[in-house]
Amino acid sequence: MNNEHRNQLIVEINSLRKEKNAIILAHYYQPAEIQDIADFVGDSLQLSQKAAATEAEVIVFCGVHFMAESAAILSPDKIVLLPEASAGCPMADMVDAGDLRKEKANLPGVKVVCYVNSSAEVKAESDICCTSSNAEKVVNSLGDEDILFVPDANLGGYIAGKIKRPLKVWPGFCPTHHRLNKEDVLKSRREYPNAEVLVHPECREEVWQEADYVGSTAGIIKYAENSAGQEFIIGTECGILHELQKKCPDKKFYLLSDQAICPNMKKSSLQKVRDCLVNLSPRVTVSQEIREKAIGALERMLAVTS
Ligand code: 13P
Ligand code: SF4
Repeated sequence: MNNEHRNQLIVEINSLRKEKNAIILAHYYQPAEIQDIADFVGDSLQLSQKAAATEAEVIVFCGVHFMAESAAILSPDKIVLLPEASAGCPMADMVDAGDLRKEKANLPGVKVVCYVNSSAEVKAESDICCTSSNAEKVVNSLGDEDILFVPDANLGGYIAGKIKRPLKVWPGFCPTHHRLNKEDVLKSRREYPNAEVLVHPECREEVWQEADYVGSTAGIIKYAENSAGQEFIIGTECGILHELQKKCPDKKFYLLSDQAICPNMKKSSLQKVRDCLVNLSPRVTVSQEIREKAIGALERMLAVTS
């Protein structure tokens, strides 16, 4: 796309967002040009807080399907748009409500903590949601109840280590983070011996065991900003480099692996943002029946975190 076309699209998006009273929310993994036009860029928790609080009539969710769906659950009177309807999350697809119901029947009394990276139907079967930035707090809020953590086994294992008690975890994973391994860390450390290693808890245990800091995307950005260190190896999706570079222009960031890319997060484009604002479609909705069952899990998470 040439600059003239890009600038034209941005002008159109700016006038459409005013005309339609829309807010554009973007996750840190989105393409840089999307982050640059967003009203707010954040991690999963910050984005759901924003979606719950906004007074805009239209929410353009530049992220993946479960994020837009959470916004639709929290703000049922708003029009929630996902610029590319097929932008899903393969980890969210690794648990479905029917299988979860069967597992709950095998584990009477268990409390289900579900990572927000899950469908509305799965949230409807869960006691409370969490994100990677509040998972420890959420799990601790349940005292010594038996917990089934779905669907991310890596995050569940990380939290179990933090709270020093076993959790039952669903065998799901994020393909983008799961493909990073210990050898990537050792190799990067050899190449950049002065750099600190910051990774996301969706990475395998063999990766977070080797890291200097483990946290959500917002946590990684905050850590890099506050650290006296000047160089960082980043173990999460490559889109985060844009915000890191913006916040810390004098520091150096190296991606742990060039494989750290989420194809679904990269499906948004300026053209699709413009088109969805013109057409008010693709729209993400949740049936009233599922919404009424799912909202409790999201609201309990927001209450624990506020
Ligand atoms: P956070 O932004 O909450 O760290 O989530 C990471 C992620 O994988 C979102 O899909
Ligand atoms: Fe899902 Fe992983 Fe992509 Fe996040 S980075 S949307 S968890 S596949």
